[in-house]
Amino acid sequence: MGLIPHNFDLPFNIIRCSHVEYAVKDLDASQKFYVDTLGFILTERTEEAIYLRCLEEQQHHSYILRKSGKSEVLAVGFKVAFEKDLDVLKAHLDNLKVSTEWVTKYKEDRTLKVVTPQGFILEFYARMAKVKDMKREYAAYKGMHPQRFDHFNIFTPNAQETYEFFVRELGFRLTEYTTTEKGEMWAAWMHRKGNVHDMALTNGDGPRLHHSAVWVPTALNIIHLLDVMSTTGYVDNIERGPGRHGVSNAFFLYIRDPDGHRVEIYTCDYMTVDPDLEPLGWDLRDPQRQTLWGAPAPRSWFEEGSTFAGTPVLEAKMEARPIIAE
Ligand SMILES: [Fe+2]
Repeated sequence: MGLIPHNFDLPFNIIRCSHVEYAVKDLDASQKFYVDTLGFILTERTEEAIYLRCLEEQQHHSYILRKSGKSEVLAVGFKVAFEKDLDVLKAHLDNLKVSTEWVTKYKEDRTLKVVTPQGFILEFYARMAKVKDMKREYAAYKGMHPQRFDHFNIFTPNAQETYEFFVRELGFRLTEYTTTEKGEMWAAWMHRKGNVHDMALTNGDGPRLHHSAVWVPTALNIIHLLDVMSTTGYVDNIERGPGRHGVSNAFFLYIRDPDGHRVEIYTCDYMTVDPDLEPLGWDLRDPQRQTLWGAPAPRSWFEEGSTFAGTPVLEAKMEARPIIAE
């Protein structure tokens, strides 16, 4: 294992992670959970899908919930700065023999679908239909007051290779990482937008999406959400937390939606824009890595995740296991 240099010389500019598209079995159940309980803004509902956004977002969607017979992930989305970045990104990946394809997505201009060598389905776009942001419409603040999309975390059977692909070929920058006793890369947190991460990866059977995450203004929004979920029939959807992560320093809660897709509610991490920021390394067996307060995560948190549509799951190569609450 080894850390590789960051790549500041790529000829395209990925701005940030942007959205996730989940396949779900029951649109009414999804709307009740995401809109009525969590407080997402319903941008639009069609026969086939629900499009949601957070309070400060000016774009049509950050969550797409598409009706399907199977609960899975259809894509994770990233925004690039300009249309020309899409063409340059495509040429770069075509040169590496990485699978790319132009696809048509509702309310997005051009969308480039990429399947990484590890099997992750990524979609890149530059322009999406604009809608009114709701950040000064305080009457619209419901549920946990979701402010903006923050990050993804993915399971991969080859953490070192995946980390190197995102850093070397897509220009992500490492902020924190976890290694095993043998010094192998076990997890990595990487960013484009200047906080701890847009994309994290964790060793495990994959490719699978571990979670998508939404940023909220304060820890009290998370406490309030717990009170609401506990008294509206969603107590079993609370999986882990609340707590403070060692990694990222953030206050967190993990919940499961009606299809089992994991959503993290996240606040209070730190700024990482300096190009010479030193990544912080953690030992896999350090209990404060997972939770600063020392409480281990449940087994489900390490073992369950959402598969990518049409993508076979490969077994994790590494035997090393973190501390698990039994
Ligand atoms: Fe996270």
